[in-house]
Amino acid sequence: MPSIETVAEPLVSLRDLHLSFGASPVLKGIDLDVHRGQAVSIIGPSGSGKSTILRCITGLLQPQRGSIRVGATEVHTLAKEAQRIELRKRVGFVFQQYNLFPHLSVLENLVIAPRKVLGRSRIDAEKEARALLAKVRMEHKADAYPGQLSGGQQQRVAIARALAMRPELILFDEVTSALDPETVGEVLTVIRELTEEGMTCVLVTHEMRFAEEISDIVYFTENGVIVEHGSATQIFQHPGSERTQEFLRHALGDPGRRPATANDPYLLTNLSRYSLSV
Ligand SMILES: Nc1ncnc2c1ncn2[C@@H]1O[C@H](COP(=O)(O)OP(=O)(O)OP(=O)(O)O)[C@@H](O)[C@H]1O
Ligand SMILES: [Mg+2]
Repeated sequence: MPSIETVAEPLVSLRDLHLSFGASPVLKGIDLDVHRGQAVSIIGPSGSGKSTILRCITGLLQPQRGSIRVGATEVHTLAKEAQRIELRKRVGFVFQQYNLFPHLSVLENLVIAPRKVLGRSRIDAEKEARALLAKVRMEHKADAYPGQLSGGQQQRVAIARALAMRPELILFDEVTSALDPETVGEVLTVIRELTEEGMTCVLVTHEMRFAEEISDIVYFTENGVIVEHGSATQIFQHPGSERTQEFLRHALGDPGRRPATANDPYLLTNLSRYSLSV
């Protein structure tokens, strides 16, 4: 008998997504589904289109062809920035760069969007913010400023800040790849707990063991297409495609992590747009 996941309507559904930057095709027909409560990982070589897929889900990028649905919202049809801001209230996005507001304390970073965007009272917003800080084990730093925190601590605050908007799903784009090895674990623990609690998550990651452990479904992308997808066991233990096998051989065989690509000017441009919208 099919499980509930397979018969229920997916929360996120991408169909035949095509996107080019100028003359360069970057997404060449992406189909991807995320069901409520699932943890879905997207893995694949650098430049294969993983971040572009996440940006399409939040309406930061418009595909030339295909459809993107999040809940009842047909994202590809949204014409106004105000509509996309509405969407981003429901979709949390945590990036490699923590992008906390540097001039605000940790607590204020969590309180500002629920107050300004959702109209919550200060008392309610602070109460929830403190609970979320406790959840990511950062309550002792509520009054600190982002610059006084380690990378891993900032990233945990960034996750708590995304949660403060009570999103329907959260997208994580390589949130550990700029971190020192010793702080990676503490961030992954927070994400693991979220997935265990049933938060719907889409995760782009180079942490293959982590993806294998926590994902319900894994998509392997290469060169703008989904080469294959399936359960974590299927993809990691019995990959069907030779390309997936080769990628995993390299990725799992090399214990070193990829250096951070923090100077992606495109991402920074969009980051500020996104920050303004929350
Ligand atoms: N604004 C842009 N203009 C032109 N090309 C872009 C732009 N943004 C991304 N690209 C290109 O699109 C392709 C896919 O980029 P994307 O960032 O989605 O890759 P990725 O799979 O996330 O890679 P990585 O693992 O390095 O983060 C790359 O070749 C990239 O250079
Ligand atoms: Mg990327």
